[in-house]
Amino acid sequence: MTEPTFTPRVFSGIKPSGGLTLGNYLGAIKRFVGMQGAMDTMYCVVDLHAITVWQDPKELAHATREVAAGYLAAGLDPAQSTLFNQSRVSAHAELGWIFNCVARVGWMNRMTQFKDKAGSNAEKVSLGLYAYPSLMAADILLYHATHVPVGEDQKQHVELTRDIAAKFNHDFGVDFFPMTDPVIDGPATRVMNLRDGSKKMSKSGESDMERINMRDDADTIAKKFKKAKTDPEPLPETLDGLKGRAEARNLVDIYAALSDTTSEAVIAEYAGAGWGRFKPALADLAVDKLAPISTEMSRLMDDPAEIDRILADGAARARAIAEPILARTYDIVGLLR
Ligand code: TRP
Repeated sequence: MTEPTFTPRVFSGIKPSGGLTLGNYLGAIKRFVGMQGAMDTMYCVVDLHAITVWQDPKELAHATREVAAGYLAAGLDPAQSTLFNQSRVSAHAELGWIFNCVARVGWMNRMTQFKDKAGSNAEKVSLGLYAYPSLMAADILLYHATHVPVGEDQKQHVELTRDIAAKFNHDFGVDFFPMTDPVIDGPATRVMNLRDGSKKMSKSGESDMERINMRDDADTIAKKFKKAKTDPEPLPETLDGLKGRAEARNLVDIYAALSDTTSEAVIAEYAGAGWGRFKPALADLAVDKLAPISTEMSRLMDDPAEIDRILADGAARARAIAEPILARTYDIVGLLR
């Protein structure tokens, strides 16, 4: 059988749980913008993923609009990219169920994100949290997406998506779902916590000082970078000199991502500099890049009806792609429709 060729299509998503951070911006949204125009691009607000842990209903609706506002403010254009929230396209949940019946429990047990999140509490977390990666596979495969820009931490989930596609194709003797590639590039696929360089910068960490929020004002951004944890050494001559210096490495990577250059180039420029010089430069750069986005997000959030209109319109376009693929899946499985 010849391999079918799939039209290149990008799909990715961000969970609306809490506010957006610099990690979301550099690790995801900024890269989403970079892919726009070159390929068909679809960017989702994955609200069904957010509710795998309890969300206050009002806050969920607000956070969903805020992710959409972040997408728009950073430069995603609804005329060029399909922007929508997941729950508006019910085919995600339907294909997700079919994939629950394809994926194996043993595969889920290997997911490191689940193990990290569930911790010693694994008996008490929701069944949805456990099945989360199978819904993520449905998000991607519902559109036959070929490229998924994600952070390093999501690589395992995209590999699982390939396993699900392969098992489905094999079990039903078809070549229906593509083998999706994760796209993990650039200096900021892993933006770390400002107080502990061994942890990811997260929306939900306990201290606000450990993250930069996309809606922080200029003074807050500057203060957080100035107080970021570092070590007593100046910046080294080469990137190799940052081995074992997680906090220092993180700040260099953030600088590189914000200025659209490489971490090597940043080190070349700041070799030998102390933190007294580097941190204020980083703070200025971050304020420069983030303040306009933050202002635009606030403007957008003042007009929620406009955001809702954009999401509804994107969902209609997403449905037009998803429905024939789901219908074909039903036929392959033998579900009458
Ligand atoms: N699991 C991703 C995260 O936590 C979010 C996500 C859900 C996603 N569905 C997706 C990312 C599909 C890419 C493609 O960041």
